[in-house]
Amino acid sequence: MKNEVNGLKGIGTFPAFPVVLVTVRNNIITVAALDFFSFEPPMMGVGICPDRFSYELIKEDQDFGINIPTKDMIESVEFCGLNSGRDVDKFNATGLTPMEPTIIKSKLITECPVNLECKVVKELYLSSEFSATHDWFIGRVVTAHVDGSYEKTQALVYWAKKYRTVSDVFSTTKI
Ligand SMILES: Cc1cc2nc3c(=O)[nH]c(=O)nc-3n(C[C@H](O)[C@H](O)[C@H](O)COP(=O)(O)O)c2cc1C
Repeated sequence: MKNEVNGLKGIGTFPAFPVVLVTVRNNIITVAALDFFSFEPPMMGVGICPDRFSYELIKEDQDFGINIPTKDMIESVEFCGLNSGRDVDKFNATGLTPMEPTIIKSKLITECPVNLECKVVKELYLSSEFSATHDWFIGRVVTAHVDGSYEKTQALVYWAKKYRTVSDVFSTTKI
């Protein structure tokens, strides 16, 4: 038997979403509202709430970095998700090292094994149209940096207050 529930409870049933550190200018924000929008050209979108400091920066600068943190970086992930760049320099506070980007203006994070450089190509202002919680910034991934020893099992996923790592591959698709 299935119970009919509201839409938010429906969304809440998803197991988890990747959690990343998004860099905008010199600031870092923890983000779980993240998805790819196109393989070619490669595009990724991030959902940012209008009250975030990063929101002002991304609107102004029109670029951002997506940095994949690993399990051992969990304290920094929490810190960047609980503190605002309006009050604190998160690079200083976490000890994370800024990495120079190749193309965009926003800094990247050295300790993250993967860094994507994204230029905003589309903005979806769902907050003004629907009073939605998140607005979406879709960026073209103009270049990326990947550590040779990176494995996907190191990346973090998050949902409903729980951090997890992704589990083993149990099957492959013929698609
Ligand atoms: C695990 C986790 C995931 C989060 N995901 C998002 C998100 O997808 N979008 C968002 O706007 N805020 C998200 N937040 C909250 C922001 O990271 C938090 O409000 C942060 O302090 C904003 O920083 P800023 O003001 O420097 O931009 C998340 C926080 C945590 C801990």
